[in-house]
Amino acid sequence: MKYLDYVKNNLPSLEGKLYLVTGANSGLGYSACKTFLHQGASVIMACRNLDKANKAKENLLKEFPNGKIDIIHFDQADKSSIEELPQLIKKYPRIDAVILNAGIFHPGKNLYTKDGYSLTVGTNFIGLYFAVEALKETFKEGKIKRLVLVSSIVSHFGRSAHYEKYFRKEHRSSFKQYAVSKRMILEYGLYLSTSLYGQVEVTLCHPGLASTNIVGGEATSFSKRFQYAGKKFMHKFGNSADKSSLCLVEAAIKTPANLGYFYPKHFFHIRGIPKEKRLHLSEKKYRRLLKSLSYL
Ligand SMILES: NC(=O)c1ccc[n+]([C@@H]2O[C@H](COP(=O)([O-])OP(=O)(O)OC[C@H]3O[C@@H](n4cnc5c(N)ncnc54)[C@H](OP(=O)(O)O)[C@@H]3O)[C@@H](O)[C@H]2O)c1
Repeated sequence: MKYLDYVKNNLPSLEGKLYLVTGANSGLGYSACKTFLHQGASVIMACRNLDKANKAKENLLKEFPNGKIDIIHFDQADKSSIEELPQLIKKYPRIDAVILNAGIFHPGKNLYTKDGYSLTVGTNFIGLYFAVEALKETFKEGKIKRLVLVSSIVSHFGRSAHYEKYFRKEHRSSFKQYAVSKRMILEYGLYLSTSLYGQVEVTLCHPGLASTNIVGGEATSFSKRFQYAGKKFMHKFGNSADKSSLCLVEAAIKTPANLGYFYPKHFFHIRGIPKEKRLHLSEKKYRRLLKSLSYL
């Protein structure tokens, strides 16, 4: 089914709803904002680069001239920026879902966040963890209805008995670092769905494979040739960014929520429209992660 057909036939009106999306200036985050606006919702784009965010907003407004779009600054590789999040959303009485989507894949060697964490794991997981910590009071107030975490199909390759090994030291394989960061997100989501039960609903998703800046943007250190080939490959075998982002959108709006996991239905779950499964919760699945978190 085509993206627009899915939106028209499967998604409800989202009039009056408000969604916050991190990493919203490109790729899946941008596409998710587009879908929310299409269904009548308002969006808050939480981005690290305000110029890019303003350009993205301009583009969205061309398509949705009456769209309500706010921009806030959010750098998931900088704890001090992350900690400003509760203050920046104070003026909104209620947010229907916060979608923690920002992420990077292959940023280059020997790069660290402002706080000294290895860049991929530091941005994708540790920054996300700090964001959840920062929002905990807001969850208690009941202001945020749902939290969506974005993992990846490659999280299968990211299991580790000692996640803390990846916190301050890069692994030689950037694929492994990325897979570990996405595995931690998955396990952390399982944990949050119980520890935050009654305060905020938690859902998880993985978007399959989509041709975005994740392999072909400024934030990657792939050679130009690889970026070109990677984007072509993802385009041929995966989804468009719009279609993959439907997994994020469904995770943000569909009930029942707790432990719902949304991912593409077809071709080894890398393409197609969203499918939902309910994850089986067992403390065993996140015990190691919790131990590693004590190193932060
Ligand atoms: N595309 C796929 O096939 C795929 C598959 C599985 C999972 N995912 C996940 O989906 C999410 C979105 O990726 P995408 O494919 O849409 O890639 P993308 O087009 O590169 O988008 C990533 C977004 O995250 C932002 N970002 C990166 N580092 C950030 C930071 N430190 N603080 C705040 N924002 C930051 C980027 O901002 P800038 O523009 O400023 O860099 C960009 O807006 C990621 O978490 C990715 O791991 C993607």
